[in-house]
Formats: sequence, C-alpha cells, structure tokens
Amino acid sequence: MEKMIWTLVLLSAVWSGVAAITVNIPQTVYEVARGDNVTLPCTFTTTVTSPKLVVVTWTALAQVEGALDDIVLTYYYPDDETDVQDNYKDRASPIVDLKTGTANLKLNSVTLNDNREFECQVQIPKDPKGQTADKARLLVLVAPSPPICKTQGKAEYGQNINLTCVSEEGSPAPTYKWAGYTVANQPRVPDPKTTDQGGILSLFNITKDTSGFYICTSSNKIRSATCNFTLSVMPPSMMSIGSTAAIIGGVAAVLIFLVIIIYCCCCKNKKKDAIYEMGIHEEEHHDKEPVNGESRHGNGQETNIRPDEAKVDLSYDRRKDYDDRRSDYDDRRSDYDDRRSDNTDRRKDYDDRRSDYDDRRSDYTDRRKDYDDRRSDYDDRRSDYDDRRKDYNDRRSDYDDRRSDYDDRRSDYDDRRNKYGDRRERYDDEGRYNDRRDPRSDNRP
Ligand SMILES: *[C@@H]1O[C@H](CO)[C@@H](O)[C@H](O)[C@H]1NC(C)=O
Ligand SMILES: *[C@@H]1O[C@H](CO)[C@@H](O)[C@H](O)[C@H]1NC(C)=O
Ligand SMILES: *[C@@H]1O[C@H](CO)[C@@H](O)[C@H](O)[C@H]1NC(C)=O
Ligand SMILES: *[C@@H]1O[C@H](CO)[C@@H](O)[C@H](O)[C@H]1NC(C)=O
Repeated sequence: MEKMIWTLVLLSAVWSGVAAITVNIPQTVYEVARGDNVTLPCTFTTTVTSPKLVVVTWTALAQVEGALDDIVLTYYYPDDETDVQDNYKDRASPIVDLKTGTANLKLNSVTLNDNREFECQVQIPKDPKGQTADKARLLVLVAPSPPICKTQGKAEYGQNINLTCVSEEGSPAPTYKWAGYTVANQPRVPDPKTTDQGGILSLFNITKDTSGFYICTSSNKIRSATCNFTLSVMPPSMMSIGSTAAIIGGVAAVLIFLVIIIYCCCCKNKKKDAIYEMGIHEEEHHDKEPVNGESRHGNGQETNIRPDEAKVDLSYDRRKDYDDRRSDYDDRRSDYDDRRSDNTDRRKDYDDRRSDYDDRRSDYTDRRKDYDDRRSDYDDRRSDYDDRRKDYNDRRSDYDDRRSDYDDRRSDYDDRRNKYGDRRERYDDEGRYNDRRDPRSDNRP
C-alpha cells in the first residue's frame, strides 16, 4: 500500500515535470461569518527551480453571466510588490512563500458582497503549461435578522388566513418553522389541514379556538431568531363593524384632504398669477414714481403681495428661461400700454360725464328751488282760499241770520194775515161790507 502511494507521488512528479505548474485550493467552499477575517488557502508547484519571476493574482469571479470579474490583488515576486484594487484596499493582502508553494489570500471584515467565488492564479515564466489556477467558493454567513410576522386575510370565524414570517437578512437563507400555542400558552396540536411552508403558516376555517400565540423561528447555520405573534380571531360582525367604521373614517379623511388640497391649489394659482402680473408691473415702474392706483388696474389681491417677494420669483423664472419670457414680457408690455391708454380715455370720458352730471345736478337744484317757490306760492294761495272760505262761511251765517230774520218776519206776516182773516170773517158775519167788497174778493173760493 505504501509502495503504491510512493509510486503515485513519483509518477505525479514525473508528470508534473512534463505538465510544469499546478495550482490548488484544497476545499471548494469556505465559510466565514460576516465581519470576520478569513484566509483562503492556495498552493502551487513548479518544475522551474528558483524562478526569477512569480506573479500571483486573486480574482473575485462574476456572480452572474456576463458580469465582469473583479481582480482583488496582484502580487509580484521577487519585488514583493502588491497591487490591491480599490474595492479591497486595506482589507485584502497576499501571503506568499515560494519555498512552501504558498499563495494565500487574507480577507478582513468580510461582507455579504464577498459571498462569491474566488480564483487563485500563479504565473511563472517558462512554465506556462499545466493548471495555473484554481477556485473556491466563499460562503459569508449572516445570522437571521429577527423575523417580521404578519397575517394575510381577515382573522374572522370561518376564514382561511396565512401567518407569514420573513427575516430580512440571513446567509445562507434562513428556514422558518411555526409553532402554535393556545391562549393558555399550551403547545397546540396543529389541525391536519394546517400547512407550514416557506415561512407561511396557512390556517383553514379558523374559529375562536385558533386564537393564541404563534412563534416563528428563523434559523440558518449560525443562529436563529424568533417572532411571537398574537392571533385573536373575531366574530364576523365585530370585524365588519370595525371595518365599516374604518372605511367611513378613511373616506371622510380622504374627502377632507381633497378639499384642503383643492383649496390650497386654487389659492396657490391665484397667488402665482398675481405674483407674475405684479412682477411685470414692478419691472415696468421700477425707476418711476408709483402711478396712481387706477392705472394699475389691480384687482385688490395684487396689493397683498410684497414687491420683493415678487421680484425674487421673477428673477428665478428669468434665469430659467430668460429669452422666452422676455418676448412674452414684451407682448404683455405693449398689451399693458394699450390698456393704459384705454384707461386714460375712459377716465376723460368719465370726467366729461361727471361735469355733465354736475350741470344737470345744478339744473335740478334750480328746478327744485323753483318748485319750492311755487309750493310756497300755493301755500299762500291756499291760505288765501282759506280766508275766503272763512269769509264765505261768515257771509253764509249772515245769510242764515237774515233768513231766520225773514222767517220771523214771515211768521209775523202770517200772524197779521190771520188777524186780517179774522177781521174779514167778522165783516162777513156782520155782512156790513158785502156791498163795498173789493172785486178781487169774488175770485176767492
Ligand atoms: C481582522 O484582522 C484585523 C487586522 O489584521 C484585526 O485588527 C481584527 O481584529 C481582525 N478581526 C477579527 C474578528 O479577528
Ligand atoms: C395563503 O398563502 C397561500 C400560499 O402562498 C396562497 O395561495 C393564499 O392565497 C394565501 N391566503 C391568503 C388569505 O392570503
Ligand atoms: C368550518 O367549521 C365549522 C365548525 O367549526 C363547520 O360547521 C363548517 O362546515 C366548516 N367549514 C368548512 C368549509 O370546512
Ligand atoms: C409570546 O408572548 C406572550 C405574551 O406576550 C407570552 O405570554 C408568551 O410566553 C410568549 N411566548 C414565547 C415563546 O416567547
């Protein structure tokens, strides 16, 4: 047996003498915890005795097809010079010894980016044949981060829900295991339909009894971490009441938000327009005395904007797109001048109409005075009429007096007539005057 091994070694020595160089990394995978230091071993043999030049190159191979390899470092013997790439500065160093055929790489403070294949290559002049390189995988281990556990679906009687468990970190990728406990914290015998795959615990047709504690353990080679999820299954009505309230609240909140947004947008736009117009005016009258309020045809809001604020806004806009805005500005300026002259015309027109109005007003005052005069005249005539009326009444009473006087005299006459009648009767009775009677008396009945 020993003879056989020695024969093999001898054979390989002869063969290697023919094939020249051999580079070897003993293992295919090296594990290291993140943050730790690691030394990747690499050995080589050569038939060249005391070589004049040796070049050792460590390369981090591309992880995906088409990506580029990253050279970590290149070591040159006998200069004992090392070129380290920027990504590995102060972290990577060669450990080379020609006598023992050593060309190791020491890598400090390993990160998850170092979780890849590394290649060791040794080049010796006049020995180009054979296996000049070998590679190994560096597995960077990361403890699982505390898993995040959630529910999918409604935790309501009769529903099917999932409990999910994910660790954001962990290398190699963690595996997950769920364990259920009752509300009394007793280990639960899982329902036969329950499944636990890839960190998803699926619970079917859940009931009040499904409530309890659910512990997920996330673990890999290095360590494990857990979450403790409390599940409380509600009756459907309670859930629907809760969710209805939540929906109403949500809708109300959205509406209020929209109203505020719309209001703010409106205000902002108005203000922006005002600022822009103000900016033009500000520029226009920059070196002039401020003109009177009318010719600025402001709409009241303009006056709320501080001039310096407007100028800042304007200068910012100008810087951005000066030429466009300048032509735009010229247009608006001529437009403004037009409106200004138009305004002046209208003002003159207004003044004319005003003086016209003043004339008419004085005219009216005159006519009013005239009316007042006529009124006093009327009052005079009225009092005159009243006087005459009084006069009439007096005369009337005078007439009445005279009438009563007449009536008196009439009754007096009637009395005398009666007396006359009496005397006549007496004459008739006596018959003394029948002969001497007046012819007029014959006509009497
Ligand atoms: C890694 O190597 C550096 C430098 O050689 C040393 O300062 C550090 O303590 C090492 N870290 C560990 C975890 O060994
Ligand atoms: C639970 O997970 C399974 C598998 O991922 C999926 O098919 C199912 O739709 C999930 N159920 C709910 C309620 O999210
Ligand atoms: C769910 O469970 C209830 C009793 O807990 C049962 O009456 C019902 O049939 C179950 N539904 C399904 C779909 O399994
Ligand atoms: C999970 O949490 C509950 C209450 O917070 C506690 O009673 C229970 O012991 C915890 N379980 C584990 C395994 O930590």
